[in-house]
Amino acid sequence: MSFVVAIDGPAGTGKGTITKILAERENLLNIDTGAMYRCVALECLNKNISSKEEDKIKEVLENIDIKLEIIDGNKKVFLNGKDVSSEIRTPEVDDVVAVFAALKCVRDKMTPIQRKIGEGKDVIMEGRDIGTVVFPDADVKIYLDCSLEERAKRRYDQNKEKGIDESYEEVLASIIERHKLETEREIAPLVKADDATLVDTTNMTIEEVVNYIEKIINKKRMK
Ligand code: DC
Repeated sequence: MSFVVAIDGPAGTGKGTITKILAERENLLNIDTGAMYRCVALECLNKNISSKEEDKIKEVLENIDIKLEIIDGNKKVFLNGKDVSSEIRTPEVDDVVAVFAALKCVRDKMTPIQRKIGEGKDVIMEGRDIGTVVFPDADVKIYLDCSLEERAKRRYDQNKEKGIDESYEEVLASIIERHKLETEREIAPLVKADDATLVDTTNMTIEEVVNYIEKIINKKRMK
């Protein structure tokens, strides 16, 4: 038996932090699908491959090895054996990842991998299309939302902590552009599944969001 919790929503809604806490509290395997798309974008950036060079991207996809691990309580991402946990979260990757994630060849490769990782296990999987495409029969579906301004503020604060120098206006512009790309793309666009619970996190603390979702998970698990 497996139990699948799908957490979807745009960047800056607190998805990563919320999913991590819920995974620990509820003993669920934490799978960050965004990290996988970030690995593809990073590998292409490193090889100077643009999003228009489909043959080269396909070659990258054939040889790519992505591993998501939790080491000492921290999420770690390995790309072809190398720890890229920080490298995949730079503004350079932020700027291009949505374009690579919109490509059919990229999604055709990643979606089955994500299904396989989750198969037969108790998982909490975060992304954009988990409740709509990857696991349309997920036991619990959550769609996290938040105002664009608050999302930009959160990302700006995170960047500052990491020592990344980007103005609030630049962060907001990048969030708006990425949101457009993610919601308007042809394949697996970011959209709330009809049967997902919408949680607007704009005025909620992380703890409030976690507690709210945890109640939904526990109710479902008791059935
Ligand atoms: O959650 P994130 O910001 O790390 O995601 C990185 C990019 O990958 C973002 O542009 C959206 C995309 N993505 C996607 O298209 N589908 C997913 N299931 C997860 C992420």
